[in-house]
Order: sequence, then C-alpha cells, then structure tokens
Amino acid sequence: MKLTLEEQKMLDGEYGRATQKAMEILVALGTIYGAEKMVPVTSVQIAGVSYDNLGEAGLHWLSEMADGGGKTRVLTTLNPAGMDFENWQALGISAEFARQQMRVIDAFARMNVVTTCSCTPYLIGNSPHFGQHIAWAESSAVCYANSVIGARSNREGGPSALAAALTGVTPEYGFHLDEQRRPGITIEVAAALRDTNDFGTLGVVIGKQLEQFEQKPIAYILGVDQASVEQLKSFCASIATYGGAALFHMPGITPEADRYTPPGEGITITQAEIDTANAALTSAEADEADFVSLGCPHLTLNEIARIAELLKGHQVTKEFWITTARPTKQMADRMGYTRIIEEAGAKFAADTCCVVAPIKGRFKILVTDSAKACYYASGKNKIRTIIKPFDEVVLAAIQ
Ligand code: F3S
Repeated sequence: MKLTLEEQKMLDGEYGRATQKAMEILVALGTIYGAEKMVPVTSVQIAGVSYDNLGEAGLHWLSEMADGGGKTRVLTTLNPAGMDFENWQALGISAEFARQQMRVIDAFARMNVVTTCSCTPYLIGNSPHFGQHIAWAESSAVCYANSVIGARSNREGGPSALAAALTGVTPEYGFHLDEQRRPGITIEVAAALRDTNDFGTLGVVIGKQLEQFEQKPIAYILGVDQASVEQLKSFCASIATYGGAALFHMPGITPEADRYTPPGEGITITQAEIDTANAALTSAEADEADFVSLGCPHLTLNEIARIAELLKGHQVTKEFWITTARPTKQMADRMGYTRIIEEAGAKFAADTCCVVAPIKGRFKILVTDSAKACYYASGKNKIRTIIKPFDEVVLAAIQ
C-alpha cells in the first residue's frame, strides 16, 4: 500500500506502540483486500464492548492498547456494553461481571473513546454526513450509515475499528469505492409494511434471498413508499443480520438511489413470504413468555414515549427491559417517561441490550418486535422467541 509520510511514521512507531499496532492492522487488512491507500475517516463506532463477548483475552488486548498510549484521532463511540452502568443491580447483573465490564470501559476511556454505549450512534451525536468515510463496527449501524445517510463504511470488526480510531484512517476498499456501491439486483416488495416488526421481517426475507448468491449483490428495493427512522433501523438490523448486507438503495428514501436505474435481474417479495417469515420467528406460546424487551436496535425517544403512553396506569407482569442509549434515557427522564415506565414496573436497560448482557439461562421465552433480537436470543442465549408489532409487545408485558 502507498502510505503518506504521516501514516509511515505511525507504522514506524514514532507515535508509540499502540498507534504502530493499529497501523499494522490496517496495512494488513488493506493488503488482503487490495487497497491502494488509506482514506481519512471522520467517525468511528467500536463493537465488542460487552465483557460477556470480550472475555479476559479481549480486555487484555484493550488494556495493552491503552497502556501503549493509544488516543483516538476522530470522534469514536461504543456499541452496547454488557450492563446498564447505573442500574445493573436491578437487572440482575453480578458484582463480579460489573467490575470486569467497568475495566473494559476504563480502557476505552483512557484512549479518549466517548463511552456512550449504543448501536444507534447516529441518534446520539455520532452522525456522519453524506459521502463521509467512516469506520463502523456494528452491522445494523453500518447498514444505516451507508444506506440511509449515504456515508461510507465497511463492516469493521472491533480491532479494525479501534485501529481506525487511533490512526484516523482506514484502507480504501469495499464500500469506500463508488464502483462497490452499485446495486446488483432489483427487489420488488409487494406486501404491506405496517410496523417495525414488518420492516424487520422484510429484512429477513430479502437477507435470505441475498445469502443465496455467491457474490452478494446490493439490493435496489422498489415498492416501499415511506419509512420512518424506527422502521429503517429495524430493517437495517435484520437485512444485515440475515443477509450480511451493508448497503441497499430505496428510491425516494435513501440518498444514492437516484444515481442508479433498477438492475435487470429481479425478484418479488410477496405478503405470503413476509407472513411465513414472521410465523417462523415465533417458536412459543405468548402465555408462557417470561421476558419482554424492546430496543433492538436501541430505542428512539419517540418509541419510549409510546411505551410510556401504553404502560400508564398498568403494572407489568413479566421482566420488561427497555434498551436504549444513555443520552436518550436522559431525555426520557426529563420528559417524565421514565417515571411512568418505572412506576409500571418495567426496567430501563440503558448502555446495553438483551443480546449482549450476560443473561444466558435466566429466561425461557422472549417477546420482542425485533427480528435481530430473535436471531441472537435463540442462537447465543438459547431463548425461544415471539415476535409481535411494537404496541402488542408492550401489551404482552402487562398481560
Ligand atoms: Fe443493538 Fe443489541 Fe440489537 S447491539 S442491534 S440492541 S443486538
């Protein structure tokens, strides 16, 4: 790869061991993927923050990078951690886990990473502009940034995202290049999309179609007239989870769609396929559910307001986690939503989520509106799942 003078100095160790290690990672990646040079990034999002996923080996590596003098050069935020930093005891997290999780956060803080832990950084101040190069490592957020914002990111891993943060650059390949952003297949949606769970299920169906191609094409999606932020974040999470997609185009909704004409090859998604996929995400009876969670990806303030409206004057009968970013929770506090929700017996789980928290073995059946939560709850945490529209999930918590 061709490096600038400054990048070469980083590689030679002139800025310390951590920066050198970071540049070594990026040069290795760039070489593997055939990048000719680095490109400056304006924003980084690091995944791999929960101690439940990192373990001692991951924590050791982060501590080494912090001890080696690593400091971020661009705005850098974190994915959800394994617990709510303020409310972990109420969520049943052990003191030992909390101690280890805070060591992880401390290592990031020593590198000047902003320790807001959320998978929706674009809602809380880490919001890149159209065309900017970024290095993000949360698959749902990468898909949102590329598709909805029109920024440019590959699907980074935790180490490569941290390396981009410490150097301010990333190798120029993949979604950083114009030619890699062209759609390869037209998807015609012939189904009614009413709620966040429908958009999530659409992501499942399209994602599984894309998975069948050896070279996964970028989808050019027709037939969706409008979509809210909440619906798009749900769609991005599931098309990324079930199809490994990092970019799609939707005319009238995403900013780069008008650059292209619909590709000749195409498929149609029917209502029957959406209904079948929805049914497949439900593997249990609602009256056996013992866990309810909303906020995969993390909730917006609007969604929290709706939960408060529905819970007002009721008491929940099941463990109900509301997962969101800390700054969004603080807005909910100020708006009085938190008081209503907590009076009903539901629990905020800010900074974390029901997938990355260490809850394996605690619950049997989860009710959610999120196809991504279903995927990981049934896989990682061995919980059976029930998917419902957003309002019905709240109602399931009080029945
Ligand atoms: Fe976010 Fe956790 Fe879902 S990181 S996208 S809430 S699995």
